[in-house]
Amino acid sequence: MKYIGNKQRLLDFIDSVVQKEGLPQNGIFIDIFTGTTNVAQHYKKKGYRIIANDFMTYSYVFQQAYIKNNQVPKFNNLLHSRNFNINPKSLKSKYEPLKIVIDYLNKLPGKKGFIFQNYAPDGKFKRQFFSNENAMRIDATRGQLDKWEKDGLVNESEFYILLASLIDAADFVANISGTYGAYLKIWRSMALKPFTMSAPNLIESNLEHWIYQEDSNKIIGDLKGDIFYIDPPYNTRQYAANFHILETLARWDNPQVYGKTGLRPYEEQKSAYSQRTKCEDAFADLINKARTDYILMSYNNEGIIPHKFILDTLGRKGEVKVYTKNYRRFRTERDHENRHYKVPDDKVQELIYFVKVR
Ligand SMILES: C[S@@+](CC[C@H](N)C(=O)[O-])C[C@H]1O[C@@H](n2cnc3c(N)ncnc32)[C@H](O)[C@@H]1O
Repeated sequence: MKYIGNKQRLLDFIDSVVQKEGLPQNGIFIDIFTGTTNVAQHYKKKGYRIIANDFMTYSYVFQQAYIKNNQVPKFNNLLHSRNFNINPKSLKSKYEPLKIVIDYLNKLPGKKGFIFQNYAPDGKFKRQFFSNENAMRIDATRGQLDKWEKDGLVNESEFYILLASLIDAADFVANISGTYGAYLKIWRSMALKPFTMSAPNLIESNLEHWIYQEDSNKIIGDLKGDIFYIDPPYNTRQYAANFHILETLARWDNPQVYGKTGLRPYEEQKSAYSQRTKCEDAFADLINKARTDYILMSYNNEGIIPHKFILDTLGRKGEVKVYTKNYRRFRTERDHENRHYKVPDDKVQELIYFVKVR
């Protein structure tokens, strides 16, 4: 998924620090700004118990599907219901129920609903985030999930697994260059492909994992773990504004949207870490409250919290080591001609700050 700060391609870098520093091979791994959950998923697969958190609802959907949920869903109630009328016991592979349900959703006829009206060219506002057909298919599918949930035909994890798949599939066909801060005037080829859900790669586990949708600074004092991984926003682009349509798909709350891009109100989801006047205090407060043996923090050399401030703040917990890696810029940022970067080329330096807490 295209997501600002997605660490999918930096997992090896994070792993190399975990290994070099001889961190415990199991225990509790806290990912307090989990976003796509890619880092949390990686360490769940390695056998850690995960505590994940992020204040965005779409991230909470991913946390439900990939972190809290430990099983392949059986959809017992749904498959017994009128639309399917299948005895789940007659199915051979454990993935079959999920495939059958996703197949059913992929064949639903489209409906003109909230996404069509607000984000498709023939909708009331003529925005071009999704093709007309895809917007209608997204509306029909999201509506169906809501109905199944209200009718008690899917349990909590079944609902979130389907919703995670829907959000991924919608994001795949969105007519954007990386964020929902703007739509493209010309249709990119992926946006004209049909909206198609696929079965998510779920992670089976015998361990309990915990998930939250809270402000990181409010929750950190209540969490106790071994490794504290921090990946805060590093620039002034608010996630709530840049991923507003994913938030609406997750909440399905019919918001009063406004402006050129149909933004939902997001005052309550503004991050201090994306505000120059607030980020240092927020970071110092977070580190002050952290109760773990090790701290790993991802950041980059263009971040709005100054390097020296990070070193001083972390330095109060123990000796700080800094690991670096050159990295290609998040694609949409390159496309903005009027943005000015401290580093003039296409590369940013990714950093990992490491502290063994005294
Ligand atoms: C750099 S991204 C994390 C990316 C993640 N590691 C990944 O690989 O997808 C930062 C995340 O912090 C979340 N966030 C920002 N401020 C927050 C806060 N005060 N409390 C909780 N989450 C916050 C954003 O919603 C965003 O998902």
